[in-house]
Formats: sequence, C-alpha cells, structure tokens
Amino acid sequence: MTARIIDGKVVAEQMRAELKNRITDLKSKGVVPGLAVVLVGDDPASRSYVTAKGKACEEIGLYSDNRCLPEKTSQKDLIDLVEELNRDPRIHGILVQLPLPRHIEEAPVVLAIDPDKDVDGFHPVNVGKMVIGQKCFLPCTPHGIVQLLLRSGVNLEGAEVVVVGRSTIVGKPIANMLIQKSPMGNATVTVCHTRTRHLADHVRRADIVIAAAGRPNTITADMVKEGAVVIDVGVNRVEDATRTRGYRLVGDVDFETVKEKASLITPVPGGVGPMTITMLMYNTVQSAMRAAGMET
Ligand code: GUN
Repeated sequence: MTARIIDGKVVAEQMRAELKNRITDLKSKGVVPGLAVVLVGDDPASRSYVTAKGKACEEIGLYSDNRCLPEKTSQKDLIDLVEELNRDPRIHGILVQLPLPRHIEEAPVVLAIDPDKDVDGFHPVNVGKMVIGQKCFLPCTPHGIVQLLLRSGVNLEGAEVVVVGRSTIVGKPIANMLIQKSPMGNATVTVCHTRTRHLADHVRRADIVIAAAGRPNTITADMVKEGAVVIDVGVNRVEDATRTRGYRLVGDVDFETVKEKASLITPVPGGVGPMTITMLMYNTVQSAMRAAGMET
C-alpha cells in the first residue's frame, strides 16, 4: 500500500478561512482579536517561529504584538511584562516563546499568564481542565494533530493509538486528549518513551502512530502495521551539504519506507507544522469571542 499524504498546509488553509469569517464577525462588533508573542533572547529557531506567527496573524486579520526582549532580561522584568499584557484589553492571547534563557525559570512565568489569555494551553489551570475534560484552551500542536486526523476522515473511536514521546508540549497532552470521552477522543492510547521496552512491538499494534520523540528514524517501516495512520511531529535538523543553509529538516519517521506501508502519513515539513500556528490563532479568536460575550 502507498499512503495518501495528509497535506497540513491544505487543512490549515481550510481552518484559517473559517477563522477569517469569525474575525470579520468580531470586527463588525468592534473587537479585533489580539495576540502578544514574547521572545527573550535571539535563538534563531525561536526568532523564525515568532516571525512566522506575526506574519500568519497579519494575513488573517489578527492584531499582533511581538515583544522581543534581550537575552539578559530578568525573570522579574519578564513577569512584569506578562502582567502588563494580562491587563491590556487589546490582547486576548499571550504566548511566551519557549525555551527561555537558562537564568529564567519557566514555571513561574507560565503561572503568571492569565489562564483566560493562555492560548498555548500551558498554564496548570488549563492543563488540569484538559485532563478532567472541561472546556479550556487546548495546546496547539496536539489540538492540530486531532484536527488533521478528524479532517482526514480518520475514525478515532476505539482506535489503538501509540504515542512515542512523553513531552509536556506534545506526548502527554495528545495522549490525554485522545482518551477523553468525546468525539475528539475515545481512542485506546499507549504512551512509549525512552524507557519503554520493545518499542517496535507496541508500535506494530497501532492503528494510529504519533511520533513525537525528537529523533530521526525512530519509526521505521518494519515497526508499522500495514494500513496504519502515521503522524510525524518531529522537526529535526540533519546535516545536508547539498543545501545552501547546510541542513534539511526531517521528522521522526523514515518517511520514504513507511509511506509504502501506511494508509495515511504526514510529511515533514508540511504536515503537523502548519497546524500549530493555526490552532494558536484559533485559540486567540476563541478568547476574543469569550471576552466579547459571544458563544464559543
Ligand atoms: N516553543 C516551541 N513550540 C512552542 C509552543 O508551541 N509554544 C511556546 N510558547 N513555545 C514553543
């Protein structure tokens, strides 16, 4: 079997078109949804994410406020800025780009964000609500994966899902979302990680494999059941002298061989990636609708 490719750019474009309609509706009521993105330091990968977020907001009609702070910014100054953004009525969503410089602790910064503006879904209040199945901001990459699956016609009900990776940003939340008693869940989920014995045996049972290990070639064709759905969340740089920048991006899945066995597969780049920013804008629009007293 040769897999159908799930084109994340197409699904993201569909969702962005839906969001534009909601933004038009909000603007007619005098509300412009606003997203603040805070970057500390000048890590090139983080800087390019932040630029991409600003551009996507502009394209769709969101107000975007990028705050770039020097590397040496203190934890107190960063928290003061977050608190200022919490009070700013033009801002409906706040994202502090991670990772932060080493001298700043992540937990107190995330805790300072108003949970009603936490469009990353990282605040413990939102994490807790997600786990107990209450309405909340869902973290963007896992929510984007669920939207990709549902919009590609994948049936989650009772499906055997194997998640490879237990990160706070992807592995843990996607596993939680997929076990919820909801149309976005109802799956049977196994979470594998660096201490898992017999990884291949787990993956071979999966109807849906979600690879979020952060290591190239973690999933190879011999590990995948014929007809499985394979979602690749990995973004890894590997040296490539044929490229002018000296590297190329690959996922966690050996795409060329796995695509011959899977029924559906996401590429890297162009799979999960485009969904993450889309879900961030989705959360910002939801937040603005809630602030305007509209049904969400
Ligand atoms: N760094 C990499 N991905 C993310 C994300 O989704 N949110 C934030 N805040 N930082 C990140």
